[in-house]
Amino acid sequence: MNPEIDTSKPHSARVYDYWLGGKNNYEVDAEAGEQVERMWPGVRRLIAANRAFMHRATRHLAAEAGIRQFLDIGTGIPTEPNLHQIAQKCAPECRVVYVDNDPIVLQYAQALLRSKPEGRTAYLHADVTDPRAILTSPEVRETLDLEQPVALSLVALLHFIADDGTATDIVRRLMEPLAPGSHLVISHGTEDPEETEVSERAAEYYRTNVSDGQARPYGTILSLFDGLDLVEPGLVPVTRWRPDGEAPELPDNKALILGGVARKP
Ligand SMILES: C[S@@+](CC[C@H](N)C(=O)[O-])C[C@H]1O[C@@H](n2cnc3c(N)ncnc32)[C@H](O)[C@@H]1O
Repeated sequence: MNPEIDTSKPHSARVYDYWLGGKNNYEVDAEAGEQVERMWPGVRRLIAANRAFMHRATRHLAAEAGIRQFLDIGTGIPTEPNLHQIAQKCAPECRVVYVDNDPIVLQYAQALLRSKPEGRTAYLHADVTDPRAILTSPEVRETLDLEQPVALSLVALLHFIADDGTATDIVRRLMEPLAPGSHLVISHGTEDPEETEVSERAAEYYRTNVSDGQARPYGTILSLFDGLDLVEPGLVPVTRWRPDGEAPELPDNKALILGGVARKP
């Protein structure tokens, strides 16, 4: 039986969908999204820039790094193009497992399963705090060959894990069993060095009303890539990660999500 969708309070996946201009959110989500936007007018562009980072990172992995398998945790409500559509456009045989813990993502997961016939996609309802359950699931085992490189995508996810040690441990446990040549993609909310009060008020509202979480300083996010080789240009504001001229532009002090891609040696 599917878990129930709770429309009495906002959910992070649905507020994100609201900011992206999607239709799969409820009044409570739109209200929370608007509240944050009033306190922090740049938030919608930042979210679009984060999504565009996911597009470019995935394209890089499939088209340039030769990756054919993806594990995307914290997928969000389907929003075209989804990760498998980008990867399979570069290489139709790409296989993707999507993972999220929100019942609304499960409800719309059908859209994520429209794989090209040469490839394959699967959806798993699970929590990133249980890496073992994810890695041993039939969805992962039957879709991905863990002897071959996999790209682990944790895009705009780890800032929902409030404890630093837990976030580090999650990344380590997910990367450990992956083959050499695997990649890690992270985007993560960071602290605002200049407008601390504005973004802190918005973040506080979000934490209280939508989801617990933690923006982290540059060095802490960088340490999530320990033991891996960051590809150029390293960990940077998502807008500056190999920009293609199509993604929204933002000044660095407003681009408060950092993104990076690294290779497991
Ligand atoms: C901000 S959205 C990001 C969506 C997508 N990765 C992107 O960047 O466009 C974060 C997603 O992570 C999911 N999420 C939050 N905490 C999670 C957890 N502990 N385990 C699995 N998914 C989680 C939420 O349900 C939401 O769909």
